[in-house]
Amino acid sequence: MDYSKLITRNMPAAVTTPEAAAADTDYVFSVTYTDPDTMPTAGIAEAVRIAMINEGQDLARYPPPLGHPGLREYIADSLRTNRGADVPVDQIFLSAGAGGAIGTVLEAFLDPGDTVLVEEFSYLGTLSMFLSRRANVVHVRTDDEGMDTDALEASIRDLVRRGIQPKMIYTISVYQNPMGVTLSADRRRRMIEISQKYGVPIFENESYADFRIDGDPLPPAMLGTDDQDSVIYTSAYTKLLGCGLRLGFGVVPEPMLATMKALRFGTSPSHLAAQAVYGFLRDHGDSHIEAVSESLKVKRDAMLAALGEHFPPSCEWTSPQGGMIIWGRLPEGTDTWAALDAAVEAGVKYNPGPVFRADRTGHNYIRLTYSYHNPNEIRDGIEKLAGVFEREGLFENA
Ligand SMILES: Cc1ncc(COP(=O)(O)O)c(C=O)c1O
Repeated sequence: MDYSKLITRNMPAAVTTPEAAAADTDYVFSVTYTDPDTMPTAGIAEAVRIAMINEGQDLARYPPPLGHPGLREYIADSLRTNRGADVPVDQIFLSAGAGGAIGTVLEAFLDPGDTVLVEEFSYLGTLSMFLSRRANVVHVRTDDEGMDTDALEASIRDLVRRGIQPKMIYTISVYQNPMGVTLSADRRRRMIEISQKYGVPIFENESYADFRIDGDPLPPAMLGTDDQDSVIYTSAYTKLLGCGLRLGFGVVPEPMLATMKALRFGTSPSHLAAQAVYGFLRDHGDSHIEAVSESLKVKRDAMLAALGEHFPPSCEWTSPQGGMIIWGRLPEGTDTWAALDAAVEAGVKYNPGPVFRADRTGHNYIRLTYSYHNPNEIRDGIEKLAGVFEREGLFENA
């Protein structure tokens, strides 16, 4: 069969990533995997057993259009209690991870050439979705308080002056991926004002809200403080319970509901996974979140200590208060993308800064994740990585 003439001419645009990123390595500091040391395998097994006894017959049919009603009730409760957002259950839909919800939302909004605003560096998965849909991605300056809302307004004003109406402000507002920062309460208020003033919705991704380790409590989600349907929201249980479970959710304003329902048709996540996640979270959710936080604290501290021991003062990195990511800056002129081959050769993987930028700049930045390995492995892996960077000359200005 000659498929070359049959395949659509409308393929997504290619997005370049470093080839070495796909290699198998002993040390994986490149993915925010679920912490395997606190994975509740026995608890999930029990939840599946109980679900099959009580609701197993439900699997004969397709799931309800928006997903498992019990889990959606649980999500509504936890958004109210933990994120200050009181949303109707029928505006919550389940998805295959946060990625599934993001894909559906982008499908609803983006035509080729549309413009979106994102943080200075932004999660490579969503960025790839933007780029493959041929969106024009505008990065906005970001500091310790998250996206700089003055810079955001200036960018939007400039776009509007040029006749361009941006489609959305996409923000990872807690423990941002990859920069680790949380959007401050003041900037949340400003972002909502800007969104309403210019008619640009906010797409708020709180995938890391369950992973507070220490430091200040999180400000409430923008989802709960906006009164004009300006915020679309996503989060997931993938990082908390298992990336392989593929269970996330989205919350859409009422005016978007019919569109989302139409786009979601036939793409709901596994109902068995939803039943199990619901049963487990209802009985053990709070204590599990605490156990994960304690484990991540030890792992974060192990990585910070190893960086302090093996990386020189010419490098800087964040001390995150939550999430699973350390964001580092190497001396000007160095190239973490080019050095990835040598690191992979030595058995260590990380993400080079440019994968978080539409223009593939930021070569002297690096993202390291600490959720997957135990503290001893983290120490060994960081020591190995430092050896590679030393040999490749990344510790000095290039
Ligand atoms: C900010 C952010 N959003 C979405 C995702 C995708 O997550 P999921 O596995 O829930 O689809 C990730 C995964 O790393 C992420 O960091």
